[in-house]
Amino acid sequence: MHAVESHRGWPSGVAVIGAGTMGLGVAECFAVAGIRVLLTDATPELSREARDRLARRAKGHAGAGLLSQEAAERAEAAQTADDVAGAVSDADLVFEAVPEDIGLKEEILGSCSEAAPEEAIIVSNTSSLPIGGLSGFVGGPERFCGMHWFNPPEWTPGVEVIPAAATEEEVVKRLVGFLRSIGKRPAVVGDGPGFVANRIQNALFLEAVRCVDEGLASPQEVDEVVRSCFGFRLPFFGPFQISDMAGLDVYENVLDVLRDGLGERFEASESLRDLVERGRTGTKSGAGFLEYSDAERERLLLERDRRYAALNELLGDLPPVDAGSGP
Ligand SMILES: NC(=O)c1ccc[n+]([C@@H]2O[C@H](COP(=O)([O-])OP(=O)(O)OC[C@H]3O[C@@H](n4cnc5c(N)ncnc54)[C@H](O)[C@@H]3O)[C@@H](O)[C@H]2O)c1
Repeated sequence: MHAVESHRGWPSGVAVIGAGTMGLGVAECFAVAGIRVLLTDATPELSREARDRLARRAKGHAGAGLLSQEAAERAEAAQTADDVAGAVSDADLVFEAVPEDIGLKEEILGSCSEAAPEEAIIVSNTSSLPIGGLSGFVGGPERFCGMHWFNPPEWTPGVEVIPAAATEEEVVKRLVGFLRSIGKRPAVVGDGPGFVANRIQNALFLEAVRCVDEGLASPQEVDEVVRSCFGFRLPFFGPFQISDMAGLDVYENVLDVLRDGLGERFEASESLRDLVERGRTGTKSGAGFLEYSDAERERLLLERDRRYAALNELLGDLPPVDAGSGP
């Protein structure tokens, strides 16, 4: 299940505040890695129910062969506290995952920072609230940081780490090191609206909805196009490597057609035009957004082909996911 099932060093104890969709999955990751976890939810009863759900789910994962028996037992060792103060009083790391309501975040982050040890790091899983604003609710804002996981957190490797202006550099380093040590793939990103992942994901989502609204394709066809055309590449490469491999001059030409047909939101950026102007058209010219020696380019293209072949094989072996039916 998780790349790393035995963690050593900081943190030895984590408090998870809000044991819903995200908090429970993150708690499972921490507990499976062997970290002492104390969960708390809105009431002691909800906290206990959440802990029981966690234990049942870990057992289910072990039964399905997705988690070792020992790892499931570690997950079952997660405990509950009756309230925030009880959960955080001995924690090295406090993970806040209550609903996306600024008033509630203010109350909970305030209580966490009052009751947690001074040296404890406090993080919020907020999807959209500015981290700079939330840091104002924390006593000792230098120890506060955004830590944005993705659903389902037990499986999704990426985590955005979002420092506020007040966050100490050492705190960011510690969080990144810790996430790597439990097999996650953290990226440190800026505190802009939607950070990076939600901004890009929602741009894609809105264009997908527009394609359906304009009658270009059904939702099922759009899903198929996204998954099987360019989405097929995304487990391995991001937009910069993909565009470098395709050719930035090609991208610029395509964007001009899209801009003419669909409007200014498709205007190519100055940075892209500048690269093309300077002959940095991607792997074929040795440089685009990134730089490639001849040997690196050969290796990259071979690796790409190897990965795509492996993914095709895996997709062929898996049963199709039920696509859902039309309205
Ligand atoms: N669901 C997602 O896909 C997703 C992904 C990334 C980030 N997030 C963010 O994570 C946070 C939690 O989202 P979620 O989807 O897990 O929500 P959720 O509603 O599933 O879980 C929130 C939990 O917090 C509990 N809670 C409410 N008041 C509380 C209190 N006073 N003290 C302690 N616990 C309390 C609720 O009972 C619930 O169990 C939000 O900030 C959300 O934006 C969600």
